[in-house]
Formats: sequence, structure tokens, C-alpha cells
Amino acid sequence: MAREITHEATGPLRIDAEKIEERGGSVLVCRCGLSAAYPFCDGSHGATDDEVDGRLYEYAGDDDEGERREIVEVVEIELSDGTGDHERAGERDENGGGAGDTA
Ligand code: FES
Repeated sequence: MAREITHEATGPLRIDAEKIEERGGSVLVCRCGLSAAYPFCDGSHGATDDEVDGRLYEYAGDDDEGERREIVEVVEIELSDGTGDHERAGERDENGGGAGDTA
């Protein structure tokens, strides 16, 4: 299991000792990417409990309550400026429907 999370920050976030003391002297740092209190864990990781090993997911809005979709293929492309990027060639929702499906 893995998930794609969008990060827009381009630098680190300093966590001062006072912030840690405010939280009782220790903190849980979010590693799932879904916390609304990022970088601190807020329990949103519970949404990942039933993710399946070997699959890649995304959550709408990087929100644990957003629609979860499975990314079935990631295609790497070379941009004209020489930088790399990727796009998702296919996604399916929890019911197996594709991103372009109409119901
Ligand atoms: S690890 Fe991300 S919310 Fe807990």
C-alpha cells in the first residue's frame, strides 16, 4: 500500500520545543500524509487501514474523508524543459470504475 499526496511546500517546517511541550512533551508526526494538523498526526491514518499491499491510492483533497481512488498506472514523461513529471494513465475508484467513466 502507498498513496500519492500533493505537497506544495518547498522547504522545511521548524517545530520549536514549545510546540512539543504544548503537546505534553512528545508528538506523533504524520507519515500517512492525510492529517489536517500536518505535520502532527490527528488520527486520519485510520482511513488507510484497509489499503491493500502493492496498490497505490490517492484521496481527493489529500483528505481522509475525500474519495479514495486507486491509481492503476503512473506514466513518467520528459518535459520539454528537461524536467521530469508524471501523470496518471488510469485510476479506478473503490468500485472499479475509471476516472472517465460516466454513470
Ligand atoms: S499518521 Fe497521518 S494522521 Fe496519523
